[in-house]
Amino acid sequence: LSVVVLVSGNGSNLQTLIDQQADLGIRISAVVSNRDDAYGLVRAREAGIPTITLNHQQYADREVYDAALIQQMDQHNPELVVLAGFMRILTPTFTRHYHGRMLNIHPSLLPKYKGLHTHRRALEAGDTEHGVTVHFVTEELDGGSPVIQARVPITDTDTEDTLQQRVHAQEYRIYPQAVAWFAEGRLKLINNQAFLDDAAL
Ligand code: GRF
Repeated sequence: LSVVVLVSGNGSNLQTLIDQQADLGIRISAVVSNRDDAYGLVRAREAGIPTITLNHQQYADREVYDAALIQQMDQHNPELVVLAGFMRILTPTFTRHYHGRMLNIHPSLLPKYKGLHTHRRALEAGDTEHGVTVHFVTEELDGGSPVIQARVPITDTDTEDTLQQRVHAQEYRIYPQAVAWFAEGRLKLINNQAFLDDAAL
């Protein structure tokens, strides 16, 4: 399965996918970034994966930028698009183009805490648990149908950093799982609802 991964930063989720490509039944055909200093690009180059960098500041608006992204990405014929810390709001043009074949990972128990600073918000709310969600990407930000979630406890001594580390450990488990399901043809989006085999998720 040909997969294109989009990153803006460190790319540790990208790394878990790179390391497990064979086991997951995927081939990462390109890594895309909106920032040329994203460490994820270094990870890709070290793995011999082609990289595409499109700096959003050099485009007139989101529509023009997303059209350029699509044009570049589609040269690699992605069957699945994986957002792994890609810190851009996507236009409906983009989300429609990859409808049913684009996943994101969001560090909260969606539908709680859409958007940024999720660890801080969970701590400030006094929550006793937090987590992470892999979901299909639709037009609504962090609003597509969930595929898999992992929960972690919040302890009295947690800081944003310790909580983020605990959540990250779960990301490295659930994102490869979701990608493997998709590669096996078991995970589908039907009428904006995620299905695993024939069961609604
Ligand atoms: C992760 O926390 C993920 O949940 C969020 O962006 C972060 C990416 O981390 N969407 P990394 O770049 O994979 O290390």
